[in-house]
Amino acid sequence: MSPTTKDAIADRLAEARRRTLALVEPLDDSQLNRVYSEILSPLAWDLGHIANFEELWLVQTIGDREPLHGELGRFYDAIENPRKIRGELPILRDSELRTYLDDVRERTLEVLEEVEIGAEAEDPLLREGFVYEMLLAHELQHTETMLQLLQMVDGYTLPDVPELDLPDRGPSPETSAESSSETIAIEAGTYEIGAGPTGFAYDNERGRHEVELAAFEIDRLPVSNSDYAEFLEETGAEPPLYWERGPDASQPLIHVSWHEAEAYAGWTGKRLPTEQEWEAASPRLERLGRVWEWTSSDFLAYPGFEAFPYPEYSEAFFGDEHKVLRGGSWATHREVMRPSFRNWDLPQRRQIFSGLRLARDA
Ligand SMILES: [Fe+2]
Repeated sequence: MSPTTKDAIADRLAEARRRTLALVEPLDDSQLNRVYSEILSPLAWDLGHIANFEELWLVQTIGDREPLHGELGRFYDAIENPRKIRGELPILRDSELRTYLDDVRERTLEVLEEVEIGAEAEDPLLREGFVYEMLLAHELQHTETMLQLLQMVDGYTLPDVPELDLPDRGPSPETSAESSSETIAIEAGTYEIGAGPTGFAYDNERGRHEVELAAFEIDRLPVSNSDYAEFLEETGAEPPLYWERGPDASQPLIHVSWHEAEAYAGWTGKRLPTEQEWEAASPRLERLGRVWEWTSSDFLAYPGFEAFPYPEYSEAFFGDEHKVLRGGSWATHREVMRPSFRNWDLPQRRQIFSGLRLARDA
């Protein structure tokens, strides 16, 4: 692979890092170390985890180097260390943390010079630069998790970070009562679901396979705050998280749990789409990328699933405990949004940027 392509990887890694650091730039060390919620990590953990994941894959695994801090990596293992204990772990903080981020990156770039990352590369981790794409996606996805916490920090205002599609920036699509209830009819038939064999995708998006769908209808737009306000008024249901901050009525509803999404859908006489329906309809959906959209589907393996590069990424989460969300939110980097991308979470979660879109049988 040409040096230009390695340069492109190095540039993209640098850009992702600039974004991560810009988000925490307004905070001091005590805010980075503080535990704001037992379902979210202190930001210092996220930052150290980003660096450690990079060290583990790009320096230790690919570059065959020893870790910089011995056994420290085990405190950054997301499975071993549930979020509620991360504030008490002996993780790196303050200037040590910043030095670690920089030192890992320096070694990453050194290793990048040595490896072959072409389509012919023998190691599947290196083929088409897979492991570098994985690392980029990892860091960009973590900044979304960090944004969930950042909105809990008193007085925090978002710095002007590129690739954040803030609801109050950019044009807000025109909506009227009629257009928000407009539906798209999807015919019964065979649809292809999942990521194709080439290009970067996670293991859980593969393999691409056919599904049979009955005819259904799906809303052109996600459910809006004003739609939901009616439901709240009529049922006395608990408002979504941060509702008291005064949501813009025409913007998509955000910060609802799967249970709330289900209850709302039931109240309207419609239902959540399955993730297969969502993906089949995705080329025709509008206002994508503002909120993650809950689907009715459990997070399950596709036929022929093979864990790659490690079972803890998705396989460990398969089952009926997690529900699938599709699309992407204002906090999702555009580079990690694609129609086949499957996000998943526990049905009670509402700190995530989650809303819904309604569907019904035709
Ligand atoms: Fe992670």
